[in-house]
Amino acid sequence: MIEIRALRIEDYDALIALWNAAGLSHRPRGRDRREHIARELAGGCSIFLVAVDDGRIIGSILGTHDGRKGWINRLAVHPDYRRRGVGTRLVHEVEQRLEEMGIDIVTCLIEDWNEDSQAFFTALGYVRHDDIHYYSKRKGPEV
Ligand SMILES: CC(C)(COP(=O)(O)OP(=O)(O)OC[C@H]1O[C@@H](n2cnc3c(N)ncnc32)[C@H](O)[C@@H]1OP(=O)(O)O)[C@@H](O)C(=O)NCCC(=O)NCCS
Repeated sequence: MIEIRALRIEDYDALIALWNAAGLSHRPRGRDRREHIARELAGGCSIFLVAVDDGRIIGSILGTHDGRKGWINRLAVHPDYRRRGVGTRLVHEVEQRLEEMGIDIVTCLIEDWNEDSQAFFTALGYVRHDDIHYYSKRKGPEV
């Protein structure tokens, strides 16, 4: 029975291990460092969930919103658990919680090469926008 629950900071090492196993790009020296995630959890603005099988963290998702739009980040399912609906459950849980907060649009950014993720989000009803380019301004390459 796979349970979905809130991430706790004690899960941090298992979370990073999951992201490495899943091949999810992340920023361990930037916004994914332990202190940053602890701050995010304490701040109460994030929906940071994990999927757990018999105590083992096998999936993750981070939902956020800026008051207008919801964002999905850090979605990962361990390779041993894929195509069993875990990713769908994680996304649906975040969508539902965002909806309860009055957020009517949920978005995500997917790298061009990540065809699996594109197929996944398409299957869940997300629409691709080829006319939008992602711009960012950052304090350094690690953030
Ligand atoms: C993307 C990811 C989270 C999907 O998780 P998952 O638990 O396997 O997804 P689900 O089982 O809920 O899949 C739901 C549907 O999405 C589609 N789908 C999922 N993975 C797919 C793939 N590799 N290729 C094609 N379609 C896929 C299918 O339609 C699938 O339904 P089906 O299995 O009945 O055909 C997982 O592949 C992953 O962790 N990838 C690496 C990390 C990553 O890229 N994260 C996203 C960053 S933007």
